[in-house]
Amino acid sequence: MTPTLFRATFMHTPSSPFTDAGALRTETDGGLLVDGSGVIVQSGDFATLHAAHPDTPVTTLRGGVLLPGFIDTHVHYPQVRVIGGLGMSLLDWLDRCALPEEARLADAPYARAVTSEFLHGLRSNGTTTALVFGAHFKGAMDLFFEAAADAGLRTVAGLVVSDRLLRGELHTTPERAYSEGKALIERWHGVGRARYAVTPRFSLSASEGILDACAALMTEYSDVHFTSHINENLREVQTVRELFPGSLDYLDTYDRAGLLGRRSVLAHSVHPTDRELGQMAAHGCSAAHCPCSNASLGSGLFPLRRHVHAGVHVALGTDVGGGTGFSMLKEGLQAYFTQQLLGAAGLPLTPAHLLYLSTRAGAEALDMGGQIGDFSPGKAFDAVWLRPPEGSTLDTVLNHASSPPEALAALFANGTQADVAQVWVGGDRVYVRSGVPAAAPQVTAADPPPVLSS
Ligand code: GUN
Ligand code: ZN
Repeated sequence: MTPTLFRATFMHTPSSPFTDAGALRTETDGGLLVDGSGVIVQSGDFATLHAAHPDTPVTTLRGGVLLPGFIDTHVHYPQVRVIGGLGMSLLDWLDRCALPEEARLADAPYARAVTSEFLHGLRSNGTTTALVFGAHFKGAMDLFFEAAADAGLRTVAGLVVSDRLLRGELHTTPERAYSEGKALIERWHGVGRARYAVTPRFSLSASEGILDACAALMTEYSDVHFTSHINENLREVQTVRELFPGSLDYLDTYDRAGLLGRRSVLAHSVHPTDRELGQMAAHGCSAAHCPCSNASLGSGLFPLRRHVHAGVHVALGTDVGGGTGFSMLKEGLQAYFTQQLLGAAGLPLTPAHLLYLSTRAGAEALDMGGQIGDFSPGKAFDAVWLRPPEGSTLDTVLNHASSPPEALAALFANGTQADVAQVWVGGDRVYVRSGVPAAAPQVTAADPPPVLSS
């Protein structure tokens, strides 16, 4: 790309609001100077940056708010077509909705179509990076990584492996899990914007042999990621306890195999023990909190306060298709609702927390905090421009917001896919909503700033 000075109202959280009351940074008439490789080199108010770089072309994003691209730390690629299976709890939903659909990804044309629908769901909702729970078929994973590269998104993904209690078509063996994982890592890990995550589905469907095969991959390739599910549903937790009588608890099934570390993301964690939280913190693991899924499947209310007090890092995931869609705005709002519903046991969340949980926290969970997650100099220009259609309810509310936190709250309360106007990854524009006027490439001193009214 050519170096560009973006002019916009922007907000970001370079630090955590859980530890820093001043984490939310905002510029009502802001400037982001992005170099030819898509990296932010200066960040501040527009007038200062424009005066220092008068010859750099300016792209004005008039109206709305520019945020760092959303980071979804738990989303299932094969489940896009089964979003909305209501009325079931986890194990029934897996049997009746998710697993029959996942078996269809053995067919390459089917998997190709689903891949494309899935990636469109991410980018049209402003998600620029995702930790993606993959398919059970190697061919479907090659198709996924190819399409993700074409889409320009950052993905951390892997072949899902299991060898019991699902359905025959979805089972593999430890030997095949190892050899197919190895081939995928060699082909895709660290190539372009892709990374690999070793992904046993959950201990309920994994023998110790499969977990050992996963550990062998992680020993051989020490910088790959690990992801799985944990402590989502009480029946699931009880079954895992019976399947692993020699383990202390659910976390211990992964821990004994040597699967836990700084790059491990465990989804749900709705019913952890204090011991498990302590061990997650000690290993530097993250929890992917999926509040829409937890509500929809009736899994429970996420104990955020206990995670934070134990020192466990938490980010957000949509958990499509147990979750209800790709919107990280909706997920942030549901995270807020969940803490409200917990009453005294809840951790009240501010708009700054919601932004942090859906952006910077995800970057840290993926050990990518040095590259993405906020608009500080040195970070890649991964961004979502939320620009509600004129006359929409969100437009009205934003136009009457009297402070940046109020505007941010309005975005989480009202924002949808329809408000995502443009999306960039590493400076490349990867999505433009149809009907959005092309951003003006030049600005003159007479142009009004793109500020929220105050
Ligand atoms: N546990 C094992 N597989 C799944 C899945 O596909 N979705 C959810 N929510 N939990 C799981
Ligand atoms: Zn899941």
